[in-house]
Amino acid sequence: MNILCLGDVQFQSGVKYVCQNLPKIIRENDIDFTVVNGENTSDYSTLDIYAAEELFSRGADVITGGNHTLQRAEVYEYLDNKSDKCIRPVNLPYLAPGKGYTVQKAKNGMRILVINAMGQITMDPCDSPFLTVDKVLEKEKGYYDIAVCDFHAEATSEKNAFGYYFNGRIHCIFGTHTHVATADERLLDKGSGFITDVGMCGVTDSIIGAEIDTALQKFVSRTFTKKKQPAGKMMINGVIFTVDNQTHYCTDIKRIKY
Ligand SMILES: [Fe+2]
Repeated sequence: MNILCLGDVQFQSGVKYVCQNLPKIIRENDIDFTVVNGENTSDYSTLDIYAAEELFSRGADVITGGNHTLQRAEVYEYLDNKSDKCIRPVNLPYLAPGKGYTVQKAKNGMRILVINAMGQITMDPCDSPFLTVDKVLEKEKGYYDIAVCDFHAEATSEKNAFGYYFNGRIHCIFGTHTHVATADERLLDKGSGFITDVGMCGVTDSIIGAEIDTALQKFVSRTFTKKKQPAGKMMINGVIFTVDNQTHYCTDIKRIKY
């Protein structure tokens, strides 16, 4: 079976572009299950609940999040009500709204455990992603066929460590958050497909999705202005994992760019 995972969808323009193209990507690549990172779908760099519904209607099975997911209170109720489809990092305090993992059925009937975890290096304080995800795998043992994890983190070292720690235990491991795709997609020796970061879905000529002039000010003169939504050519970045239906191990990982 094929599992499609798309990186951080940036702003309303990114949502629109992904929604326009997602059915075609799913059809052309014979996709059985789709995971999309939606933590930046709002124009205020957080989850947008209308965008989430739009992405579900166009074929997303699960929407994952990250450090921005809980930044606006409007999404809390949605995360609680929609916790089977729209998740946030699992290693946040237990009092946080929503849930950090879900089990959903793919088109071919396989039970897919999708986990969202967040890194600790240069990120907001959170529990150990390693030990928290260990507990999830233990708790859900027997209730899923294939495990997928969106590891939302900054440091490439931490992301690689996460990949090898869960090698053979989580079948599909993909990184998000940096918005820059890495070229290190590979099969690990115990049966996991891994990539450090899948990149983003948003405007190509931007600074990790943000409008260039305003983002430049921050670096060049240390002055801050309100974030502006960039315009221009769009791109969609992600990966497709091919998983063996019998062994559940990953047999192929392919980077995609539209
Ligand atoms: Fe992020």
